[in-house]
Amino acid sequence: MRGRVQRITWWVILLAAGCGLFAVRSLAQEACLQCHETEGLSITLPSGESIPVTVKGKDLAASVHRDLSCTTCHPGQEKYPHPPLAAKTAREFRVASARICQSCHSDAASDYSQSVHGRGLKLGLADVPTCQSCHTAHTVKPAKDPAFRNNIPLVCGNCHGDPQLASKYGMKEVYQTYATEFHGVTTFFYRVTKPQEVSPAAVCYDCHGIHDVKAVDAPDSPVNKQNLLSTCRKCHPQAGALFASAWLEHERPALGKATLVYLVSLFYTILIPSVVVFLGVHTVLDLWRWLMDRLEERRR
Ligand code: HEC
Ligand code: HEC
Ligand code: HEC
Ligand code: HEC
Ligand code: HEC
Ligand code: HEC
Ligand code: HEC
Repeated sequence: MRGRVQRITWWVILLAAGCGLFAVRSLAQEACLQCHETEGLSITLPSGESIPVTVKGKDLAASVHRDLSCTTCHPGQEKYPHPPLAAKTAREFRVASARICQSCHSDAASDYSQSVHGRGLKLGLADVPTCQSCHTAHTVKPAKDPAFRNNIPLVCGNCHGDPQLASKYGMKEVYQTYATEFHGVTTFFYRVTKPQEVSPAAVCYDCHGIHDVKAVDAPDSPVNKQNLLSTCRKCHPQAGALFASAWLEHERPALGKATLVYLVSLFYTILIPSVVVFLGVHTVLDLWRWLMDRLEERRR
């Protein structure tokens, strides 16, 4: 009998402790949100840049991190005024904030640190992506979420379609060429018409890797000449040796680069509008003749 009472007492204590913890967590969350849901709240950094600090509780609640409390990711922010910020610029703030993600996701973090982007970060390049650039901070979606996959070309394209960034780093603007080839067009249709289904066509990371994106000429890059065919074969298992080499990659056809493709498309660019104009003129003349004939008949 005594053992049973003791057991019940333990259960009650455990339950109370559980509820207590939950209450403390949601209390803290409430306290943060009481200020942070205010619209228009922002912080101005010494660089003069301003960062909005409005955070929506429901965004976090809809993310993969719904079970984390604010202070798990932001320890030391419990009191207000908050401790002074070390970051002088928005970039410094983002780079420091990415360490929050790395503390829990060490696999992704170590792949990233070996990538062309992670190495760029170590070198202090101002434009390489950090974790939040691709995942956001408070609205992180599951990796297998179809909408996340179908949207990836735009996420990468934010930078890899920007002409200024391209010329700064001597890279091609690849988003524009991707968006007009079969994989890009198919993925675009999925994004717009079937956002809850995964595009089967290749998106950027199917060819380049996810966190371990390499410079395209690196020996271990999945898109260098030696590895490209096996990368295509993940989805085109029948592909023969010429399959990959016949493909234009991110190249725009021009004189001297895929000259035949360029000339054929130039031919059609001229032919199709000419035919349309020709047909238009033909129809107008035909109508004119018809009208004139009718008027002639009436006059007679
Ligand atoms: C009394 C209102 C108030 C409360 C409560 C509050 N904050 Fe803030 N917080 C602010 C304001 C205002 C800023 C803008 C910068 C500043 O004035 O310090 C800010 C800035 C921040 C920043 C960005 C700058 C930095 O210091 O890193 C984070 C992150 C942050 N708060 C997290 C939290 C968390 C987490 C909680 C709850 C544990 C919380 N805040 C509670 C008002 C508040
Ligand atoms: C999974 C970790 C995580 C959780 C949970 C989290 N944050 Fe954040 N938070 C971040 C990261 C990372 C950044 C940096 C974002 C960036 O680069 O702009 C950030 C930035 C902020 C900022 C600065 C403004 C901004 O958006 O950049 C505020 C304010 C803030 N968080 C408040 C909160 C509050 C309040 C909660 C709880 C409702 C919360 N955070 C929960 C990771 C988290
Ligand atoms: C305190 C630890 C912690 C921090 C900090 C944290 N995460 Fe997470 N993250 C988790 C946990 C736990 C899950 C698993 C949730 C689940 O399975 O539903 C998760 C899930 C994810 C997923 C989905 C994984 C999948 O397989 O679908 C992504 C993406 C992710 N986190 C990215 C981030 C990013 C980006 C940051 C920084 C803004 C971050 N995480 C910060 C603990 C953390
Ligand atoms: C250049 C864009 C990009 C950057 C930067 C990035 N990720 Fe990801 N991440 C992705 C994509 C795309 C996926 C989904 C891939 C898939 O289908 O599994 C993913 C998947 C994940 C996952 C779930 C699958 C896994 O690998 O465990 C986690 C966790 C994650 N990322 C965390 C991070 C963290 C932490 C960082 C920063 C160190 C980061 N990511 C930086 C694009 C990025
Ligand atoms: C079907 C495979 C495939 C897909 C999908 C793909 N790429 Fe590529 N990518 C390649 C190959 C092969 C190269 C190397 C040849 C070249 O530069 O055209 C390359 C080169 C690059 C380069 C280097 C360009 C340069 O200046 O040398 C970048 C950056 C890049 N891709 C980013 C992207 C982005 C961003 C996406 C999505 C919008 C994407 N790629 C989609 C295969 C692919
Ligand atoms: C925030 C901007 C940004 C985002 C987002 C981004 N990148 Fe990059 N990426 C860069 C910059 C900047 C470099 C140049 C780094 C360097 O030269 O060291 C780069 C380099 C590369 C390279 C190497 C190019 C070469 O010359 O060999 C590839 C491949 C690449 N990125 C692919 C991707 C893919 C795939 C994604 C999306 C999953 C992506 N990037 C998202 C900024 C970005
Ligand atoms: C993630 C899977 C995937 C990868 C990786 C992939 N493709 Fe595709 N590819 C597809 C799908 C699905 C289609 C058909 C839908 C469409 O037309 O977009 C397709 C269509 C094509 C087509 C149009 C002709 C046809 O067979 O329908 C060519 C050419 C092509 N891919 C070349 C390549 C090359 C070259 C590579 C490697 C550099 C590659 N693909 C990598 C999935 C992939």
